[in-house]
Amino acid sequence: MNDTKGRDFLSLKDYSSKEIMAYLNLAIDMKRNRADYRNALLGKNLAMIFQKPSLRTRVSFQIGMSELGGHALYISPNEIQLGKRESVKDVAMVLSRYADGIMARVFSHDDVLELAKYSDKPVINGLSDLLHPCQGMADYLTILERFGDFDGLRLCYVGDGNNVCHTLMYGAAKLGVEMIIACPKGYEPSAEIVEETTRDGLDLRIVNDPLIGARDSNVIYTDTWVSMGQEGDEEKRLREFKGFQVNSGLLDIASDDCIVMHCLPAHRNVEITDDVMDGKRSAIFDQAENRLHAQKAILALNL
Ligand code: CP
Ligand code: NVA
Repeated sequence: MNDTKGRDFLSLKDYSSKEIMAYLNLAIDMKRNRADYRNALLGKNLAMIFQKPSLRTRVSFQIGMSELGGHALYISPNEIQLGKRESVKDVAMVLSRYADGIMARVFSHDDVLELAKYSDKPVINGLSDLLHPCQGMADYLTILERFGDFDGLRLCYVGDGNNVCHTLMYGAAKLGVEMIIACPKGYEPSAEIVEETTRDGLDLRIVNDPLIGARDSNVIYTDTWVSMGQEGDEEKRLREFKGFQVNSGLLDIASDDCIVMHCLPAHRNVEITDDVMDGKRSAIFDQAENRLHAQKAILALNL
């Protein structure tokens, strides 16, 4: 494994399968032996820039840093007004003089790339319109815990071909997970990412019928139909995603050992029903917890 110290964490595509496995194994150990890591980042500081709201990302990074002996600073959307009050470049150059790392949740993926370009310290992507790599690490950690390995697994993603879907694709390509995406016409994932991940060996099918997607799948994953920044299209999206709800009917045709995942926040009884979210196949709240453990591994290895 290459030395990860000082590297940005912007996309799973930048890491090899071996490196991703090393993060996951460290996260498992950190979860089991929490107290052993309390000085791992002693005295280190993480600056966290948010252009969008957050529960999981903000709290898991903040608590994660403090569990590792460090400190995290939350910077709200209004505070620095990235790119408006000050250029992204200047923000990166100033923050990296104070902090040991920057975590950023942004609209445009170019902004997180620009931060990384001008920051001397590692930049972690806490979600952009294109990708959500920290979520992906928590998701694959959850899958690994449930199934023991990734061999022969089929993941069906139902819904919008968005940032979470793109990240799952990169991860599936690296980890040898088969993927089937069931989305309405016009909501397919980025053609460029389809091209890149299939070239990287991803076994991928894209269909427009969730019943075809779910058949014999080991993991059924969904996300909101209206991502942050798309609120203006809400009515149209709710109409066009009708029929793509994850409900008990869909689970009936999945594999017997199938688990259900959602990155949250969820709109209960819209993209996923209450009974499925709270049912015995749901791994959703393990996933939320695993944000903490997966990100602690990223922080410890990169800062
Ligand atoms: N899943 C996730 O990133 O949640 P938040 O938007 O609450 O951070
Ligand atoms: N696709 C969602 C994920 C939220 C964690 C969004 O970007 O809003």
